[in-house]
Amino acid sequence: MPATIVSGLQFGDEGKGKIVDLLSEKADLVCRFQGGDNAGHTVVVGDATYKLHLIPSGFLQKKRTLIGAGVVVNPRVFKKEAEEFNVPPGLLGVDLRATIIFPHNIEIDIIEEVCRKKRIGTTKRGIGPAYTDKAARRNVTLSELLDGSYKKILKEQQHANEVFLADHFSKDNSSCTFGQGKEQARTYVCGPKILEEFAALADFMRPFATDASREVNDALKDGKTVLCETAQGAFLDNSFGTRPYVTSSSTISGAACTGLGFAPWHVKRVVGVSKAYMTRVGEGPMPSEIEEEIGNVIRSKGAEFGTTTGRARRCGWLDLPVLRRACELNGATELTVTKLDVLSGMKKVKVCKYYRLDGKKLLFPPVSTNDFERARPVYKEFLGWQGFKNPKDFSSLPRNAKNFLNYVEGELKILIKIVSFGPERNQNIYK
Ligand code: GTP
Ligand code: IMP
Ligand code: MG
Repeated sequence: MPATIVSGLQFGDEGKGKIVDLLSEKADLVCRFQGGDNAGHTVVVGDATYKLHLIPSGFLQKKRTLIGAGVVVNPRVFKKEAEEFNVPPGLLGVDLRATIIFPHNIEIDIIEEVCRKKRIGTTKRGIGPAYTDKAARRNVTLSELLDGSYKKILKEQQHANEVFLADHFSKDNSSCTFGQGKEQARTYVCGPKILEEFAALADFMRPFATDASREVNDALKDGKTVLCETAQGAFLDNSFGTRPYVTSSSTISGAACTGLGFAPWHVKRVVGVSKAYMTRVGEGPMPSEIEEEIGNVIRSKGAEFGTTTGRARRCGWLDLPVLRRACELNGATELTVTKLDVLSGMKKVKVCKYYRLDGKKLLFPPVSTNDFERARPVYKEFLGWQGFKNPKDFSSLPRNAKNFLNYVEGELKILIKIVSFGPERNQNIYK
């Protein structure tokens, strides 16, 4: 059986964790391929709520899960999660090529964020600095953490950080509260205590180390099903998102191949996940953001607070230009719409059908982020629907909810196969 990829069509937090858990039932391997513990998937199974940052959601279905070469891994978070959820090495492997996040990566993330004139609103998990080191070929891989050769590489990171920080602090930067000069920079490298801690973390990670790419390719050759779980969403993609308000990895389906190390022709199914409305954490354009009270209603009803940072998520109406582009970038073969229940009980529900910018009608978001900030949404309004209790199938949904979903499907020309109406594993209808 081929590979399936679950991708976020918006700005992350679409509910991919829940959908991956659901689809994991029929998968043999469940894999993460990009990002790190900036991700936060919440999965509800019966009375238990699991908040996962690194471990792929598939372990809840007792499937073997893999963290691929494209992921940046904080060993402290890895250990905490593996212990908290009691995940044995048989159910979890980390590619030897995955990049290790060190405490100084997190320090640099915080310093950069505090000193930025225009904040990005990062999760402060060291994701950007870890990928920076990778692009500059001075990242430490799990393999190097395990064989001890990483100490030499850390010296290169230390040098780069000192150059960066000395330059940074020599400028007049009154908003920066982290002190001045090169001496300050020296505190942001691994001292003996951290080296000792990381030696112990290396021992903890050793039994989990694997060649994830080999496992994935062998599984595909054997006709097994590989489910790939994206973190974040299409518009946080480092190339195609709303730069600079993006994350530091590629968040679209194509990244599954490069992050896990398998060929594109194995991919036969791409499940694009979207909320029935839209949220965004952190800065950046969001034309359909709701300024009125209804935005607060959606936030509290949908519990729209970040799993990783606890920040309030910005709430907006469903945005079709964003979805059109995200479906194209991901090659979505089907759609999943989550959180339909959150919109029930409203008098009216809106969908942004296109934008207006400088007198022009735009069906897709503009390339430039500045233009995106200026784009104005043009809405189609739907009559709302009242609460529905456990609908059995699509036909038993309220008529106005069906009108809303049919419209979205028609505009995107992609079938909605799953509609989720609650956080529980079984709160779904299949179309
Ligand atoms: P990232 O990987 O961080 O982008 O997150 P994600 O896409 O896995 O989503 P996340 O778990 O952060 O956010 C979705 C939230 O909505 C979670 O708290 C889920 O439990 C919840 N959820 C998922 N589907 C539904 C639904 O249909 N209705 C309601 N009410 N809640 C849902
Ligand atoms: P970073 O990935 O921590 O560098 O953050 C960069 C941007 O991506 C910020 O706007 C974050 O809020 C956003 N971001 C990163 N991970 C997630 C996620 O899992 N869900 C939603 N937003 C995210
Ligand atoms: Mg999340």
